[in-house]
Amino acid sequence: MTNWVEIDRLAKLWVKEAGSRIKASMQEGLSIETKSNPNDLVTNIDKETERFFIEKIQSTFSDHHILGEEGQGEEVTSLDGIVWIIDPIDGTMNFVHQKRNFAISIGIFENGVGKIGLIYDVIHDELYHAIKGEGAYMNDILLPPLKDVEIEKAIVGINPTWAIESPYFDAKPFARLVRDVRGTRTIGSAALELAYIASGRSDAYVTLRLAPWDYAAGCVLLDEVGAVYSNIHGERLTFLDKNSIVAGNRSICEKILHDYIKGSGNKK
Ligand code: IPD
Ligand code: CA
Ligand code: CA
Repeated sequence: MTNWVEIDRLAKLWVKEAGSRIKASMQEGLSIETKSNPNDLVTNIDKETERFFIEKIQSTFSDHHILGEEGQGEEVTSLDGIVWIIDPIDGTMNFVHQKRNFAISIGIFENGVGKIGLIYDVIHDELYHAIKGEGAYMNDILLPPLKDVEIEKAIVGINPTWAIESPYFDAKPFARLVRDVRGTRTIGSAALELAYIASGRSDAYVTLRLAPWDYAAGCVLLDEVGAVYSNIHGERLTFLDKNSIVAGNRSICEKILHDYIKGSGNKK
């Protein structure tokens, strides 16, 4: 029998400890490299934080699997068993340039089902936390179910890239959405965008390409506040490949999918 209470207790403890280590590291110089393009940054602290979790998990739960952004765990090709989906620092560009608005994001899944979600906004010391079926919390305060919000009164998280005309995707629906909503925000951390929806600070998030470690924890939080999420075709998200995302309360997601994105030229 899996002891979820113990997994949860340790996961929280490790996330807080990792957060303290990240904070302490900010007094020292960072070693910054680029990955897929010159704006895709990774630092020594991203890698050290991922290694910290891998060591803790492997020495405590030897049968658990780890899918981490920096790829220092194993190569995970299935979600069978218990899988920790880890983004050691989500919002690395913010971490490097702004020293705020980045988060540790950990989703713990069992046979493909999200059981625990942890998103820790290190600088603001805000821990968003959910256990499947037991509610979502921000620093131990229960988050209420989401209320419906009209699109005209909605704050929507969107990366401006998607609203700029491009030969690679159809930006028109996003430009229209930006025009119609009350306001748009770009935090620069997908995990925090989802945590903000769960905590009512934002009403929706739309983006065309994220990896599972960006949204695994957020999806567990969203389930607990009655939010919905899908790719831009309204299909279920998968947790091994990249996906587009529309997330928020049910009515706003249905409107975005139906009135804005449906029929546009965007593939995924
Ligand atoms: C990035 C952030 C960003 C999103 C990017 C992600 P990283 O994650 O979540 O908000 O727009 O697509 O790659 O690289 O900072 O972990
Ligand atoms: Ca990320
Ligand atoms: Ca990252």
